[in-house]
Amino acid sequence: MKIAQAQGAPASAILGIGGYRPRRVVDNAEICQFIDSSDEWIQTRSGIRERRWASADETIQMMSVAASRKAIERAGLEPEQIDTVIVATVTHLYQTPAAAATVAAELGTKGAAAFDISAACAGFCYGTAMADSFIRTGTSKYVLVIGVERLSDFTDPRDRSTAFIFADGAGAAVIGPSEVPGLGPVVWGSDGDQAGLITQSQPWDVALAGEERHRPVLQMTGNPVFKWAAYTMAKAAAEAMDAAGIRPDELEVFVPHQANMRITDAMFRALKLPAEVIVGRDIARQGNTSAASVPLAIEALLESGEARSGQTCLIIGFGAGLVYAGQVITLP
Ligand SMILES: CC(C)(COP(=O)(O)OP(=O)(O)OC[C@H]1O[C@@H](n2cnc3c(N)ncnc32)[C@H](O)[C@@H]1OP(=O)(O)O)[C@@H](O)C(=O)NCCC(=O)NCCS
Repeated sequence: MKIAQAQGAPASAILGIGGYRPRRVVDNAEICQFIDSSDEWIQTRSGIRERRWASADETIQMMSVAASRKAIERAGLEPEQIDTVIVATVTHLYQTPAAAATVAAELGTKGAAAFDISAACAGFCYGTAMADSFIRTGTSKYVLVIGVERLSDFTDPRDRSTAFIFADGAGAAVIGPSEVPGLGPVVWGSDGDQAGLITQSQPWDVALAGEERHRPVLQMTGNPVFKWAAYTMAKAAAEAMDAAGIRPDELEVFVPHQANMRITDAMFRALKLPAEVIVGRDIARQGNTSAASVPLAIEALLESGEARSGQTCLIIGFGAGLVYAGQVITLP
């Protein structure tokens, strides 16, 4: 028996991007109430001036829906046209059901396929790669990829190696069929030998069995992560440009994961990008929002007019795992 095969589109592209930034702005002075640090140290070492922390009502569900509504509207689609929803997050408090299923329902999709993925700060780029494959193989037509985090729920405000870095928010992209390729091949991978550099302090059962019974927090050995991100990730980003057939002098926009402004600058130098390339620097206002950081940074560049639709942009996410994924995209 011959099994029929689905036929996909020749290529895919991002059709619309939207973000949700929590209301509460937390400046470095507030962070320094709990750690021995200073506004000057935080700005010089990380580039972060302020970040947003979610309030009780700004849940993973609420932020995902808000960002997605903007992305769907900007794509010129109706929610019922979305047939697949992928949520990338490491901070959803429910192990099951997937956030994607309830987000798909609240948005008003017609029973879209829905699942969550765990790829930390690379989650949005992992989801984007999956969406591209689904569309080109005919598995899906319009895929909604959401990166969403409430990292403040998992941050110890007294840990000076993480307290000033992590933040909350959501970014969403609608990816659909296109005659002209708007997404290049993904370059991705992992290095589980370095898993211990960014971890959850304890598994849930141990944390809840302890005397204090508090939820686990994220822990990070920052300096080796910094070096890995600045050097190894620059190589992966260069491979993503090669795979897409884009030379550094043809690139117009660069949006790496917003982990540290100095990592962004080191990657920019290592990639030998021309000075006029526009760079995502959302970390200054937003902190590190893990899976949400790349789509939020893209939205910020488009909304401010610094970047515009149709420009060629390199994105790369990297983080706990360690995992990474990068690709060249055309901005929606
Ligand atoms: C966290 C990070 C900003 C720290 O910067 P760094 O330059 O690596 O700093 P180090 O850890 O080497 O510490 C340098 C000094 O600052 C001190 N320090 C560390 N945290 C501090 C803080 N919050 N405030 C003030 N001083 C601090 C250290 O004690 C050390 O002091 P010493 O020189 O007297 O020993 C940086 O390592 C980083 O951004 N790492 C990667 C983050 C990332 O990419 N995350 C993962 C992806 S999600």
